[in-house]
Amino acid sequence: MKLLLLGSGGREHALAWKIAQSPKVDKLFIAPGNAGTNSVGENVNIKATDFAAIKQFTLENDVQMIVVGPEDPLVKGIYDEIKKDPQTAHIAVIGPTAQGAQLEGSKEFAKGFMMRHNIPTARYQSFTSATLDEGLQFLETLEAPYVLKADGLCAGKGVLILPTLEEAKKELKEMLSGMFGDASETVVIEEFLSGIECSVFVLTDGKNYKVLPVAKDYKRIGEGDKGLNTGGMGSVSPVPFADETFMEKVRTRIIEPTIQGLNQENILYKGFIFLGLINVKGEPMVIEYNVRMGDPETESVMLRIQSDLVELFEGVDAGNLDKYTLEIDPRSAGCVMLVSGGYPESYEKGKVMTGFEEAAKTDSILFHAGTALKDGQIVTNGGRVIAVCSYGADKEEALAKSYRVAEMITFDKRYFRRDIGFDL
Ligand code: AMP
Ligand code: GLY
Repeated sequence: MKLLLLGSGGREHALAWKIAQSPKVDKLFIAPGNAGTNSVGENVNIKATDFAAIKQFTLENDVQMIVVGPEDPLVKGIYDEIKKDPQTAHIAVIGPTAQGAQLEGSKEFAKGFMMRHNIPTARYQSFTSATLDEGLQFLETLEAPYVLKADGLCAGKGVLILPTLEEAKKELKEMLSGMFGDASETVVIEEFLSGIECSVFVLTDGKNYKVLPVAKDYKRIGEGDKGLNTGGMGSVSPVPFADETFMEKVRTRIIEPTIQGLNQENILYKGFIFLGLINVKGEPMVIEYNVRMGDPETESVMLRIQSDLVELFEGVDAGNLDKYTLEIDPRSAGCVMLVSGGYPESYEKGKVMTGFEEAAKTDSILFHAGTALKDGQIVTNGGRVIAVCSYGADKEEALAKSYRVAEMITFDKRYFRRDIGFDL
C-alpha cells in the first residue's frame, strides 16, 4: 500500500524507519519530513496541518493510510476531515477524532474525563478570569509546590510548577490574563504528585488494545534533570520499575477505564494513547494524556517493536486489533539526543554535521530530528538535531553504545546530556 506519515521530527523518522520495514508498504511518503525521513521514504513538501493539500495529495497518489505523528493535526480534526469527505473516507487514519484528541487538546477535558471514569490522577479544579478569586482561594488549600496548567496546547510550555504560594498566585493571574493566549483562558490547578515518571503507549482500535514497550524520557536540558524544559534529551526502554505488578495496575485502573470511558462517551478513537504516568509509592497516576506517540520515547520504542507495525495499524483501522500479536524485543534501547548549543533558548542553525560514515559502521541507529540537506551536506536545522539510538543487553550497554556514536557525530556547539537513565 501507499502510506502517508505526517510530521517532521525524530519521532517521525523513527516511525518512518519502522513503517518502511513493512512488506505491506510499497511507497512511504512523509509530509513534510526531514533529512532523515527522506532516506527511508519520500518527503513531500506539505505541512502536517494543511488539510486541503493533504487530501489532494492522497487522492493524486492513491494513499491508503495516513499515520499522524504530532498532536496538532489531530486536535484540528484531520481524522474527521478525511472521513467526512466521500472521496477520502476510505483512507485509514491512524489517530483519534478531534473529540478524542481533546484528551490532549484540553487539560480541563482530560481531568474531567478522568474524574468521570475514576481514573487515578491529581486532585484539581479549573478556573477562568471570572473565577480568579476562587482560584486564589483554592491555591490556599493546597501545599507547595503548586501546579498550574494552561488548558490548551502550548507546545509543552503550558505547565508551571511553582515553589511558593505567592508565585503561584502571581502566575495564576498572569495566565488568566493571556500569558499563553487563548490556551490559558482556562487554567487547571492541581495537587503536586511526587514520584518517578514513565510513558506508557497504547495502540487501540477503540475496543481492543496493545500496550507498546514502556519508556522514560528526560525533559530537562541539564544533567540531574536540572534547568529548562526541552522537547526531550533522551529516552530508555524498558523502565525497570514498570514491572508486571505496576503494569497490571496500569491496565486495570487506567487503560481499560480510558477505553471504556471513550466508548461510553461515544468518542471514536483509533490510534495511540500516550499515558504520562507517575509512580506514587507503587501506585500509577495519570499526569497527562497525549493522543500521539512521545518524542524522544518513540525512538526507543520503535527499536523494540518486532511485529509489523503496519499490520497492527490495519488491525486498528479494521477494528480487529485482537487478531494480531505484538512481539517485543527483550533487549533494552537507549537514545541520546544531540542538540544545538543554546537550546532550548536561542541557538544557531546551518552547522555542518560530520561523522555519519563512521557512525554507519556501528550498529547504532540515527534518527534525525532537526537536520536539513544543504549543498549535499547534512546541516543542523533545529534545537534538537539527531537522536543516537542503540540496543543493549541492558540500558547501560545500550546507552554506552549510543554515547560512543554520539561522540562521532560532530557539529559546532553540539551538546548532549551524559546521564540519560541516571535515575532508574
Ligand atoms: P505535562 O505538560 O502535563 O506533561 O506536564 C509537564 C511536566 O510537569 C510533567 O512531565 C511532570 O514532570 C510535571 N507535572 C505535571 N503535573 C504534575 C503534578 N500534578 N505533580 C507533579 N508534577 C507534575
Ligand atoms: N516526551 C514527551 C512528549 O512527547 O510529550
